[in-house]
Amino acid sequence: SSKIVSRETESAGLKPEFSHTGPVYLNVENHDELNEQIRMIDLNEEDVRLLRTLKPIVEEHIDEIVSGFYSSVLGVEKLEQIIIKHSSVERLKMTLRQHIVEIFDGNIDQNYITKRLTIAKIHKKVGLEPKWYLSAFQNLQNEFIEIIYKEAATDQERIHRVQTITKLLNLEQQLVLE
Ligand code: HEM
Repeated sequence: SSKIVSRETESAGLKPEFSHTGPVYLNVENHDELNEQIRMIDLNEEDVRLLRTLKPIVEEHIDEIVSGFYSSVLGVEKLEQIIIKHSSVERLKMTLRQHIVEIFDGNIDQNYITKRLTIAKIHKKVGLEPKWYLSAFQNLQNEFIEIIYKEAATDQERIHRVQTITKLLNLEQQLVLE
């Protein structure tokens, strides 16, 4: 399997931790530089676990997240044209919906990497420039933070949640823009 249980867990002599969604994966074979990137942004297993606990909240609000995203994208004439030419809003909404929910599975493995590289290729092919991808991403991030923030009980919890989400979204951008 391409899924490797993290070095942190192994070196601590611990058994990989299993939750209802499976073990935590946060180390990728043959991607030393990516593992370094992950360490550099301090994305750790605790983040992955927290991410999974946030999944139901995100799923609950997925319609507004996806609609907000596309109304902002369709507000830019150039981007609307790309969508009309290469796809459809309905199709992209479905794709994005699935993609977002999957981020909160927190499985950072070979499959995760391959998918991001494919997204990058597709965006390149349809002529989506990085500046627009990043703008769209910020819009998505704004929505996430608002939803997650509202439902947290304490300031500490809010900070932690926001940090975890921004780490994940940052990694996502690192991979798609590479
Ligand atoms: C395809 C995600 C921004 C246009 C895709 C796919 C994903 C995705 C997951 C499908 C890849 C596959 O089929 O394997 C994202 C994310 C974005 C983003 C996470 C930013 C947060 C944009 C923007 C546009 C766009 C701003 C505006 C033009 C497209 C198009 C396709 C595509 C035209 C091809 C879809 C098709 O084959 O029907 N994107 N995207 N994307 N994206 Fe994006």
